[in-house]
Amino acid sequence: MSELKTDAFWMPFTPNRTFKAAPRLVESAEGIYLTEKDTGRQIIDATAGLWCSNAGHCRTEIADAIHQQAGKLDYSSIFNFGHELGFAYADRLVKHTPDGLDHVFFGNSGSEAVESALKIALQYQRARGKGTRTMFIGREKGYHGVNFGGISVGGIAPNYQTFGQPVKANHLRHTLDIERNAFSRGLPEQGVELAEDLERLVAFHGADQIAAVIIEPFAGAGGVILPPKGYLKRIREICDRHDLVLIFDEVITGWGRTGSAFASVEWDVTPDMITSAKGITNATVPMGAVFVQDEIYNTVMDAAPEGMVEFFHGYTYSAHPVACAAGMATLDIYEREGLLTRAGGDIGRHWENALHGLADLEQVIDVRNYGLVGAIELRAPDNLKGKFGGKVSALAWEAGVMARGIGDALCMSPPLIIEEHQIDELMQKLRGVIKDL
Ligand SMILES: Cc1ncc(COP(=O)(O)O)c(C=O)c1O
Repeated sequence: MSELKTDAFWMPFTPNRTFKAAPRLVESAEGIYLTEKDTGRQIIDATAGLWCSNAGHCRTEIADAIHQQAGKLDYSSIFNFGHELGFAYADRLVKHTPDGLDHVFFGNSGSEAVESALKIALQYQRARGKGTRTMFIGREKGYHGVNFGGISVGGIAPNYQTFGQPVKANHLRHTLDIERNAFSRGLPEQGVELAEDLERLVAFHGADQIAAVIIEPFAGAGGVILPPKGYLKRIREICDRHDLVLIFDEVITGWGRTGSAFASVEWDVTPDMITSAKGITNATVPMGAVFVQDEIYNTVMDAAPEGMVEFFHGYTYSAHPVACAAGMATLDIYEREGLLTRAGGDIGRHWENALHGLADLEQVIDVRNYGLVGAIELRAPDNLKGKFGGKVSALAWEAGVMARGIGDALCMSPPLIIEEHQIDELMQKLRGVIKDL
C-alpha cells in the first residue's frame, strides 16, 4: 500500500501530532482480538473497542444482516413515512428494558441519545404545565457525549471548558472515594450519603427549575466509578420526592456489561428514561436510542393538537434500516448466547478474581470491578499525576493489550464473549507491564 497520508484526517479525542508521528493502526478484528497493521500482532481488545463491541468483533451474522438490508431497503425517509423494521426493532428492544419504559426514540450515537433525552424532558415539563423546569443536574466525572447538552450535564472539565456551558446545569459530587473504598469487589460499601447532594442542589436551585437529573449508573469514561451500595435508590427517592425526571445514561452500562440487559435492572432502580447506543448494534452501525416511560410519552402525545408534530426533533437517520437490521442481528446473538447475563455468572467472578489478583503489585492502589468491567488505579509519579493511565495504556499496547487510560487508571470492559483463559492471558500481560513501571 502507498505511504499513509495522515494530514487530512482530524482525529477525535486524540493528540493528533503525537499520533501522526507514530500511528498505531488496526487492520482487522475477530472475537476479542485486533490485528495490528504491518506487524500482524494480535492485540487483546480489553475495552471492546470503546465499550461497545459486546458480542466480539466481526460477527458474520451481523455482517450478513447489514449486507442484506443494504440491498433491500438501504434508506427511506423516516419523517412522515416509516418502514416495518423500525417498528419491529423498537418493539423487540423494549422487551429488554425495565417495565414501563416502552417507547423508543432513535438517533445515531450516545451523544444524540443524550441530546434527545434532555429535549424530551423539556418537552414533557412544558406539556404538563411545568415550563419553568428548564435546567439539568448531572454529576462530576459524568460523560454524556459531546453535543452541547451533553457537555453541559457532563462533569469532565476539559470537554466544556472551551465551549462554555450552553445548557444550564449543575453537578452532583462524584462518588469515587479510593480512601474509603479501595479494592472493593462489586459495589462499594461507603458513600450512599453522597446521594443527599441532590437535596442540596434542589434546595439551591428550587425543584421548579429542574427538568431532569441525568447520571450514568456507573461512570465509564470518568474512570469506572461504581455507585456506592444504596446510592442509586436514594437518588430515585429524592427525584420522586421533588417530582424530577430521572435519566440513566446507559450508553456503556447497557447491553450486558453488568450482568443484566441494563444496570437499572441489575441494581433494581428504574429511571424515567434510559439512553443507549454502542452495544445496541454491537458497534457495527451507528445507532442510539432513548427508552421512555409511558407517562412521559403519553403526556407529550396528548398535549399536542391533533395532526400536529408532538416533538420537533429527529434525525435523518433515526431508525436507519441498516442500523435496525444490525441491531436485530445483535439481539439474536445476545439472546441466543445468553450474553446479556453472562457477566453476572462464572466469567464475571473469574474477571473479578483475576483483576484483584494484581492487587499485590506495589504500583496498584485500587482495583474496582463489576460484571465485566473494571479499573486498576495506579500510583502515578508526581510529574505524571492525572495522566499516568494514558502512558501505561501505551505500554500495554506494546505488550499486546488495548486498555483505556483514564486519569491514573487503566480501564477495561472486554467483549462479553471473553473466556477464562483469555482473561488470564490479559492479566499476565498487564502484570508484566505494571511490574516494570
Ligand atoms: C455514558 C455515555 N454517554 C454518551 C456517550 C457518547 O456516545 P457517542 O460517542 O456514541 O456519541 C458515551 C460515550 O462513551 C458514554 O459513555
